[in-house]
Amino acid sequence: MPLSECKMIDLPKISNQQGNLTFIEGSNHIPFDIKRVYYLYDVPGGAARGGHAHKQLHQLIIAISGSFDITLDDGQAQRTFHLNRSYSGLYVCPMIWRELNNFSTGSVCMVLASSVYREEDYHRDYAQFLEACRSGE
Ligand code: TYD
Repeated sequence: MPLSECKMIDLPKISNQQGNLTFIEGSNHIPFDIKRVYYLYDVPGGAARGGHAHKQLHQLIIAISGSFDITLDDGQAQRTFHLNRSYSGLYVCPMIWRELNNFSTGSVCMVLASSVYREEDYHRDYAQFLEACRSGE
């Protein structure tokens, strides 16, 4: 799927003097049902995460706390997003290579995913990912 499918999605935000509340309903606020939630935290300064693509998985990535950068790559074009809001997330469609870096101290990256964890769904080799993009696998 092309990089143009990937976009920031603004999430509902209920604000009052006691603070903010954001909620996410699968297939309502985001274009897939949620089967799994995971989060990255205690990421050391200078560390990079990601470095892979998913064959079929849809994801929404949110900077629940702090900030980080995500560079997306569909094999033809690249785009970098800076995530720093807990009420907006980056939708990443299948077949997009991603690199996450520049994590701020104490940042938390929460990921909503359309499927349970399956290692077979990963492309972890960039050359193989490019080949799969070219052959339309
Ligand atoms: P990986 O997806 O490579 O992490 P990141 O993209 O953040 O660098 O996963 C790191 C390790 O965690 C890898 O051994 C697979 C394992 N893992 C699970 O067991 N279940 C999961 O839901 C996820 C996301 C990863």
